[in-house]
Amino acid sequence: MAPLKQIGVVGCGLMGSGIAQVSAQAGMTTWVREIDKPTLEKGLGRIRKFLEDGVAKGKVTAEDRDRALGNLKGTTDLGDLAACELVIEAVVESIEAKREVFSALDRTLAASAVLASNTSSLSITEIAACAERPERVLGLHFFNPVPLMKLVEIIRALPTSDDAFARAKGYVEQIGKTAVVAKDTPGFVVNRLLVPYLLDAVRVFESGVASREDIDNGMKLGCGYPMGPLTLLDFVGLDTTYYIANIMFEEFKQPQYAAPPLLRRMVFAGYLGRKSGRGFYDYSKA
Ligand code: 3HC
Repeated sequence: MAPLKQIGVVGCGLMGSGIAQVSAQAGMTTWVREIDKPTLEKGLGRIRKFLEDGVAKGKVTAEDRDRALGNLKGTTDLGDLAACELVIEAVVESIEAKREVFSALDRTLAASAVLASNTSSLSITEIAACAERPERVLGLHFFNPVPLMKLVEIIRALPTSDDAFARAKGYVEQIGKTAVVAKDTPGFVVNRLLVPYLLDAVRVFESGVASREDIDNGMKLGCGYPMGPLTLLDFVGLDTTYYIANIMFEEFKQPQYAAPPLLRRMVFAGYLGRKSGRGFYDYSKA
């Protein structure tokens, strides 16, 4: 299968900007679309900063940074993505928002183009049903921080064609990441295992077994995890984890997916983790 030359990303938030960055770094002309200019500029600024930091750390050459930025095309017009061979949607986790994007893309793109969603919680089959050609829709689930995490989950919706799947697999290889293939069930592979673990860490903390630092150090130093679970919850976002857990609980009705009371209350209080300045730890001075 010929390598992809032109791809699109819809949404330039935390995940969308990372996906656009790795695609541009891999040499593809990368259109990234945001809803308005200030939001687009914020996302592009995040990419520039990541690449600058990479140069400062000696991980990215100045030539690679410039080539990547040259491959990146920001826009607020979905029509600019018309010639893209693959478009990855990374907008908010709402089926209404996805439906709007997928039906617009369906009308705009060539019949051979592949449409992917980076959703971590919604059903890919339900998203595919928003498109007139559901056979070209699948999931490409990235991990945060996208430029550093080496995995992408590829999720086949019930109608996904072999051709769309092969193209998506080729794209993951092009950006130098490893693919794992999962069925369209809540949490796919990684979140299916990760979310109950994170919820259990909250239960352990809530029941007073150990301090937050000792819980985190236990898993970091005892199991070699890069972050302890409470730090990881702050990193992923307590609201995001709570949202995914609720969807998993709704579907499986099993207690390991039930959000513990403390998590629920922290979300009510707006203690969402790093993004709100406070979660299990305090980031207000960071
Ligand atoms: N450009 C290029 N390379 C960079 C860079 C940059 N701007 N910034 C850092 N790096 C490199 C570093 O040089 C380092 O490379 P090395 O290993 O060769 O020395 C490596 O990336 C790690 O960077 P740091 O040393 O600065 O940072 P840490 O060692 O503290 O690692 C981390 C940071 C990668 C975030 C690590 O803590 C980690 O892996 N945490 C777990 C993250 C995780 O689990 N993510 C998944 C969340 S779940 C999810 O996303 C799914 C969703 O659906 C919820």
